[in-house]
Amino acid sequence: MAKYKTKYVCQNCGYESAKWMGRCTECLAWNTFAEEVERKEEASRGSVGGAGQMPRPIAAIEPLAGKRMPAGIKEFDRVLGGGIVPGSIFLVGGDPGIGKSTLLLQVADLISRIHGKVLYVSGEESAHQTRLRAERLGNLSPELYLLAETNLAVVSHWIAEMKPVFVIIDSIQTMYDAELPTAPGSVAQVRECTGHLLRLAKNGHNAIAIVGHVTKEGNIAGPRMLEHMVDAVLYFEGDRHYSFRILRAVKNRFGSTNESGIFSMEETGLKEILNPSAMFLAERPVGVAGSVVAACMEGTRPLLVELQALVTPTCFGMPRRMAAGVDSNRLNLLLAVLEKKVGLQLQSQDTYINIAGGLKVDEPAVDLAIVLAVASSFRNVPADPNLVVMGEVGLAGEVRAVPRVEQRIQEAIKLGFTRFVLPRGSTKELGTKFTGRDIITVENVAEAMEIVLGG
Ligand code: TYD
Ligand code: MG
Repeated sequence: MAKYKTKYVCQNCGYESAKWMGRCTECLAWNTFAEEVERKEEASRGSVGGAGQMPRPIAAIEPLAGKRMPAGIKEFDRVLGGGIVPGSIFLVGGDPGIGKSTLLLQVADLISRIHGKVLYVSGEESAHQTRLRAERLGNLSPELYLLAETNLAVVSHWIAEMKPVFVIIDSIQTMYDAELPTAPGSVAQVRECTGHLLRLAKNGHNAIAIVGHVTKEGNIAGPRMLEHMVDAVLYFEGDRHYSFRILRAVKNRFGSTNESGIFSMEETGLKEILNPSAMFLAERPVGVAGSVVAACMEGTRPLLVELQALVTPTCFGMPRRMAAGVDSNRLNLLLAVLEKKVGLQLQSQDTYINIAGGLKVDEPAVDLAIVLAVASSFRNVPADPNLVVMGEVGLAGEVRAVPRVEQRIQEAIKLGFTRFVLPRGSTKELGTKFTGRDIITVENVAEAMEIVLGG
């Protein structure tokens, strides 16, 4: 018989205390402590490789990663480092309605066609609802099994019985362990259920994907340690008003975290976007002041985006500064550089900046494009439409080198651009490649402005 003892657990960070507290001493959140019952005999401890493990030479252990299961969706496989690793467990987080269930259902269908039985456990939608969705997507593989269940004991029973190669738990917040007296979704339940699934995956060599809800701040709901427990954490992001979605790895034990996959949500499910730059530049106005194309990197892939700026005189009070798609603090910093180092009188101007298409870019290499777009709008001088810029801007107004210049230029050439403005510090990397091309190197913002906007 398991013995129980009460404790108080912060529902925000998972901090445990013997007595109730109004404010968590760990994460400083207010009113987040809830009473939970702890099992004396911790069922969640145990070996991750099955019972009776002994130390063995590392070279004598068979690597499972060599047997990755690609789903055949390039954008998805790349994010996981080449496919799903048997015996691994990964977490997919994202806002409600962004397409997590759709993505995993499509992946489940493809995996089951190539690699064997797949079990999709739905705790949020009934079997009929999921079937309806699968029908719409045309995902009705005979090896894809569906289970509408939230009791973890029942789910583990079927995993042991069916031995699927891949299991999807949609979502971890709906699963519960009947032995714990707390509600599904609580820190204790999420932690115990994940721990249990983890052991199932490692012992049974079947891969498990778990869907996790995100909090208002955009983190995966539940204890922070959830992310430490799993092998990979993927975030599925996008703007509700646009159809494109980005899958990003923020943690990956079997691959790089630099990868991302770009999809578009269509009537019939998610489709891969193989040429995202063309999509983001599709509606670009040509010869209009305030529009500059930047070459940035999305993971390890170059991506061209259009930076749009609008600078108008302030009618009343403080000037407004708004940034969509780039960090607003970064915009303020770059405006200060423009004022101080180039002498643009932006103090009495409202400044708006936007990345066309609803994309978010946090790479410093877009700095130069932001600066040039603002200056172009302020002076009402359009930039050459065949021009692509890249470069980080420092506080002294200097244009700093950015990595992977060659890839960025190649992507721009592919899309028909003919002139390239890059930091002088990046030229060493290029050597004699691109000789004969119109490559302009700049050292500071003033120089870049003179070249692009004619002084
Ligand atoms: P869903 O996968 O249910 O999101 P999540 O599991 O992340 O909550 O996706 C739901 C949204 O996707 C919904 O707004 C409708 C849209 N959608 C399409 O546009 N096309 C489709 O084929 C499907 C299945 C969904
Ligand atoms: Mg869902």
